[in-house]
Amino acid sequence: MKSSTMTNVHVVDHPLSQQILTRLRDYQTPTSEFRRRAAQLSHFLAYEAMRDLNMRESGVETPLGPAKGVVLSDYVVIAPILRAGLILAEAAQDIMPSTARVYHIGLKRDEETLQAITYYTKLPDKLPSESHVYVLDPMLATGGSAAAAIAMFARLEVKTIHLVSFLAAPEGIKAVLEKFPDLKITTAAIDDHLNENGYIVPGLGDAGDRIFGT
Ligand code: PRP
Ligand code: URA
Repeated sequence: MKSSTMTNVHVVDHPLSQQILTRLRDYQTPTSEFRRRAAQLSHFLAYEAMRDLNMRESGVETPLGPAKGVVLSDYVVIAPILRAGLILAEAAQDIMPSTARVYHIGLKRDEETLQAITYYTKLPDKLPSESHVYVLDPMLATGGSAAAAIAMFARLEVKTIHLVSFLAAPEGIKAVLEKFPDLKITTAAIDDHLNENGYIVPGLGDAGDRIFGT
């Protein structure tokens, strides 16, 4: 992968995140553990992806007196791609103050054509121009789903768009960065390739099915 491409991609290689990812990859990991581990990894990735958010000073009283503190000052939008992105959205909401807005994007990849089909959106006509948007989906495979979701926000002329995934295929990274060169990507790993069915190899299988036990 080109080094210019890699400036847009942040691989979270923390040993604990890699250990969790290993449990997610294991085909023997049961649904209950998969969900728990996926939530843990989602917290890691959300923290890392939101590293660049701005803050302003805000005082606070500790039990011993006044102290300097901060509050986030950016307008944050969380955009999970259904279904699998929900696990990342819960984590992102968990760590964000209640001011983050959540807009769900319903996309389904056609198993034959691998094209993303939109089945649900409820986006506003406008977002503040200083919005920071986090598009959340555990799997960046061909990039079709991510590109469709990103395009919805690019149209609204927001300030930054960031894609957060557990795993990314080189093909998917290339595809989304060709369309959106300013996009930032945070992921736990870049895998080897896509197979003939558009699955990430070695990957972890079907993320939605493994999270929801379907
Ligand atoms: C999976 C995954 C991504 C998409 C990735 O979702 O969660 O959204 O496929 O593939 P792509 O990069 O080739 O578009 P899927 O469409 O299977 O829906 P689901 O989350 O409801 O299972
Ligand atoms: N969607 C998944 O859930 N897994 C893949 O490997 C590719 C697309």
